Amino acid sequence: MWRPDPVEDQIAWRNGERSVARLVRRDPPAGVRPGTPPPVRADGTYLITGGLGGLGLKVARWLAGAGAGHLVLAGRQGLPERRDWPAAGKTPATAPPAALAQMAAIREIEALGAAVTVVAADVADAAAMAALFRRFGDGLPPLRGVVHAAVAMSALPVRDLSAAAVRAMLRAKVGGGWVLHTLTAGLDLDFFVLFSSTTALWGARDLAHYAAANQFLDALAHLRRAAGRGCRPNWATAARSSSEATRISSQVPQLTARAGRPAARRRWARASRN
Ligand SMILES: NC(=O)c1ccc[n+]([C@@H]2O[C@H](COP(=O)([O-])OP(=O)(O)OC[C@H]3O[C@@H](n4cnc5c(N)ncnc54)[C@H](OP(=O)(O)O)[C@@H]3O)[C@@H](O)[C@H]2O)c1
Repeated sequence: MWRPDPVEDQIAWRNGERSVARLVRRDPPAGVRPGTPPPVRADGTYLITGGLGGLGLKVARWLAGAGAGHLVLAGRQGLPERRDWPAAGKTPATAPPAALAQMAAIREIEALGAAVTVVAADVADAAAMAALFRRFGDGLPPLRGVVHAAVAMSALPVRDLSAAAVRAMLRAKVGGGWVLHTLTAGLDLDFFVLFSSTTALWGARDLAHYAAANQFLDALAHLRRAAGRGCRPNWATAARSSSEATRISSQVPQLTARAGRPAARRRWARASRN
């Protein structure tokens, strides 16, 4: 009844028809063009979770360049108080290189005209995030957009996945995604973006827990879209070069629109019997 297929590792039989998984190219929704500037305002705040990470800082720079007035970059570790930052260009022997690079990036972002607030908070900590949200419109300009880019990355074969490793992976993406979803209920946002991954579409070796976490974000995006709110990009692996960042950034507008959709999605396609 069942025999291994030398080529296809995912096969669905439906009503006697054999289907296999294929990627199908999708056009952007009508009226959304790649390269469109993000819908940001000078009098709004934009929250980026994982904002001090690789993509978080690139998104922050992109939003600032488009005229966003205030950016909040949230991560668990945060950065030292501003008064303790070394002068631009000075490299104290004790400072961690990653923190110095983050400080330099923030200075560049601020030179584009945005104010940047760094917040040390775990996005899955509902109380800490609620405290942050109380500052929007009361000390910080009103919140107008959210980019959820927090992830605590790890790679492990399924056989080595402990409950603790799975929980650690789910915390930022699943726990954090839900906290943000809940806290933004009733807010009039211009966008709510969840950074998912192509692993949610077709998996990846050693990343089953990561794929599951991103699947949750995809489901959350569907839930929000069904209510006319928010969407998510399924990023493929992003290179760190500035040219690659520009390419990635140019894709974001079509994906941040309220009615946006991923550019490609997996679909079951008919396949001939063999
Ligand atoms: N880069 C890629 O190639 C790629 C590809 C596909 C999808 N993505 C997605 O894009 C997003 C950003 O990726 P990235 O490459 O920029 O990751 P990254 O460089 O590792 O940055 C992730 C950031 O998230 C923060 N973080 C982790 N757990 C957190 C929590 N519980 N609460 C708040 N902040 C938390 C980390 O800071 P702390 O440790 O200080 O908290 C870190 O700065 C992720 O959702 C990732 O899945 C990336």
